[in-house]
Amino acid sequence: MRLSYFAALLLSASSFAAHAAEERVASATETFFDKHWPSTIHPQGEPDDALPDVEKSLAPESCRICHLQQYQDWQTSMHSRSMSPGIVGQLVEMVTDDPATARLCWSCHAPLAEQQDLTYSTADGWQDNPEFDSQLQKHGMMCASCHVRNRQYYGPPRRSSPNTTGRIEELLPHGSFVAEVGFTKSEFCRGCHQFARDDYALNGKLLENTYAEWAASEYADNGTQCQDCHMPDRRHLWRGIHDADMVRSGITISVSPVPENHLPGQLVDATISIENSGVGHKFPTYITPKVFVRGRLLTEMGEQIDSSLQEYVIGWESYDLAVEAYDTRLSPGQQIEISYRYPLPDEGTKLQIEVVVDPDHWYRRFYQNILNSGGGGAGREMLAEALALSQRSSFSIYEQVFALVKPKGDNPSQ
Ligand code: HEC
Ligand code: HEC
Ligand code: HEC
Ligand code: HEC
Ligand code: HEC
Repeated sequence: MRLSYFAALLLSASSFAAHAAEERVASATETFFDKHWPSTIHPQGEPDDALPDVEKSLAPESCRICHLQQYQDWQTSMHSRSMSPGIVGQLVEMVTDDPATARLCWSCHAPLAEQQDLTYSTADGWQDNPEFDSQLQKHGMMCASCHVRNRQYYGPPRRSSPNTTGRIEELLPHGSFVAEVGFTKSEFCRGCHQFARDDYALNGKLLENTYAEWAASEYADNGTQCQDCHMPDRRHLWRGIHDADMVRSGITISVSPVPENHLPGQLVDATISIENSGVGHKFPTYITPKVFVRGRLLTEMGEQIDSSLQEYVIGWESYDLAVEAYDTRLSPGQQIEISYRYPLPDEGTKLQIEVVVDPDHWYRRFYQNILNSGGGGAGREMLAEALALSQRSSFSIYEQVFALVKPKGDNPSQ
């Protein structure tokens, strides 16, 4: 079935931590990444009894009491929705049928031990996890997933002393914190946004390659980290392909001047240029979104002339994740020119150019296929919900209408 097929492909991602270790450069910061993001994070252990309950709790609602800004930002982010119906719907049966794959999904979507139903050891195999807290699991990539290990709180160095790594020995809530420069580096994001060398590749290209795309770009050379674009001013918003303003900030669109004077039958000839002018990796980086560049002619009343529609798709396509159909993603700095050419029909008077982003294009088809084939089992209802969500996520980032025929009064031949 497609569900487990997809899971099997992702299974290969489990080796990423091992590779990270292999490629380790002997630096304190690299050691931090290995320790902070092992393939499985150990349970936190017992909290210090002396602390008030709110400082013992791993729940984001507790952090909220003292870190309101980060909480409010995070709540609007995709990280807070990383246990959405599309994932949970797939996990329902996977937890019993294929726990190893379920644990792999958790490693990126709900990484703390306390967020996972099961534990594994070679001696006992798969067991119910005594530390499991279903409320914490629902929060997915929550504050503690990135900031708490063995009950110790970690964060970036204070803004006032940006290069200090080490334990801040002051009387603070949750027993102080460890300042770690690694929080400000792209490598902090690598474990979940980059597959390792031997992981699943499509046409020789790793299915998840964001970190490597960034590392090969001039952004890495100039020291611009993921955080600089996705967490400016340390905000916890992580805007990406689901946000119109974020996408607009990364690309430049222009349409070559379209001559106004056009008579029916003449060729309408326009060039749409799209540049990846500010995305620190490919636009888009994953196989899941699609960006549609559309040109079409309109009547005087603004009705679309269907036959005149021409469409170019920016994205990476594979219907089965086995064979690549096309890859038209734009590398950092890359610019493409798309031409629109169509003879003007009698009723045509305007050219419309639009760019529409469909962030969940691949997933929508995936959910549709499962539901149409009667699959999904116990997770079926959630997958239907995921389908509905994916149907609402498209948005337009550019729309321009160009007049093609001079208004009658101005036309000397009339
Ligand atoms: C009772 C209040 C309180 C609660 C609850 C609390 N914190 Fe804090 N936290 C603080 C204070 C105060 C500091 C110190 C800030 C400073 O002086 O730089 C701090 C520091 C931090 C830092 C380091 C900030 C830096 O500059 O790097 C992080 C990260 C952090 N907390 C995360 C969390 C998380 C995650 C939770 C919930 C699991 C949490 N805190 C719960 C009050 C709290
Ligand atoms: C995906 C991992 C991740 C999650 C989830 C996350 N943070 Fe952070 N947090 C970071 C990183 C990375 C930084 C440092 C950003 C930088 O230096 O640009 C940071 C910085 C901070 C700081 C220091 C802020 C400052 O202005 O100095 C605090 C406090 C904090 N986070 C609290 C929280 C709280 C509370 C939550 C949950 C509501 C949370 N974080 C969720 C990764 C995360
Ligand atoms: C432990 C795993 C993990 C880490 C570490 C992590 N992420 Fe994510 N990130 C995810 C997952 C899972 C999602 C998808 C959530 C969803 O939509 O279900 C995501 C989503 C995102 C998105 C939103 C993409 C969109 O579709 O709009 C951005 C942007 C992002 N992450 C940036 C970062 C940055 C920057 C860092 C480092 C500071 C980081 N992430 C660290 C797991 C992680
Ligand atoms: C290496 C980290 C990683 C692993 C392992 C992983 N994911 Fe994800 N997942 C991501 C990231 C990053 C995104 C966001 C980018 C995107 O949309 O493709 C994401 C997005 C998704 C989404 C779409 C977003 C949403 O909220 O609906 C689904 C569904 C999903 N993952 C399911 C799974 C399942 C099921 C597994 C286990 C078989 C899994 N993932 C394993 C990192 C991972
Ligand atoms: C120079 C700014 C910049 C840098 C650096 C950058 N990004 Fe992005 N990122 C963007 C913009 C703009 C978008 C929205 C357009 C898009 O989706 O490609 C985006 C989108 C994303 C998405 C959405 C998924 C998708 O398919 O596009 C993820 C996930 C992401 N970035 C993660 C990262 C990670 C991880 C790093 C560091 C390795 C990083 N980004 C570095 C600007 C940046």
